[in-house]
Amino acid sequence: MKIISNPLTLKKHLKDIDKTVGFVPTMGALHEGHIALIKRAKAENEIVIVSIFINPTQFLAGEDLEKYPKKDEADKKICELAGVNILFVPNAQEIYTKDEVKICAPNVRGYILEGATRPGHFSGVLTVVIKLLHIVNPTKAYFGKKDAQQLNLINLMVKQLFMNVEIIPVDIVRDNDGLALSSRNIYLSKEQRHEALKIPKSLYTASQLISKNILKTQKIKKAMLEVLTPLSIGYVEILNRNFESIAEIELKNTIILVEVMVGETRLLDNIWL
Ligand code: PAJ
Repeated sequence: MKIISNPLTLKKHLKDIDKTVGFVPTMGALHEGHIALIKRAKAENEIVIVSIFINPTQFLAGEDLEKYPKKDEADKKICELAGVNILFVPNAQEIYTKDEVKICAPNVRGYILEGATRPGHFSGVLTVVIKLLHIVNPTKAYFGKKDAQQLNLINLMVKQLFMNVEIIPVDIVRDNDGLALSSRNIYLSKEQRHEALKIPKSLYTASQLISKNILKTQKIKKAMLEVLTPLSIGYVEILNRNFESIAEIELKNTIILVEVMVGETRLLDNIWL
């Protein structure tokens, strides 16, 4: 596995490679969720590139940028074992300069849900993703459905800016107890982790109601809120896959999304119906 930190060195290295390239952008502290993306990329491409970059522009002031988990050595091993060909680990000075061209999240879909609790977050995400995609120029890039709004906005960006890459969504990987894997789960104490299980439980409650043909979104949301109480709920939303409100579940076109703060830790989860 080659490790490259300079963006221009990576571009130069890839210039004459006539192979399909699968790209998995991450912020490190890799877990089975990331590994699922890497495996999928490995199965579908001749070369796999993983980036690890804790992108400062997607953290708001006062968020966990400084304490975001760093596991450089473990991450390297995971990538090597997973058969990654190139690990790209730039630093912030190589990605950002002064007086930057601005990439902004769309006014509506970039400022609801996660974008409402973290205004500006998605502009930072889109900025780094467009930069990384231009550096790597992959055939396919892999993103988890766990960050459903991020995935939706990246799809919008790629479509609206007529970019060549194909975006591949990958299913959520969960722990045995049902909690969606996240690099931030390590912030949770034992008790908090137990509390956090209310999140997958609320989604399970929703899917049970839907299987009984209860399709009114207000009714489903109410039942979910009951399961989640007394956690500090950021949002419980039921939207179509275009991220617009719906009054009734539309099968094969609905996402149910939850954001909850457990202590200081923001946890996201969702199901796609
Ligand atoms: P990060 O949180 O490290 O996640 C990297 C990728 O792994 C994202 O596409 C995310 O959706 C996916 N992922 C995380 N947990 C997952 C799980 N349990 N199951 C499936 N996929 C999962 O998301 C980011 O980094 C950043 O915003 C990034 C896109 C790299 C831009 O900085």
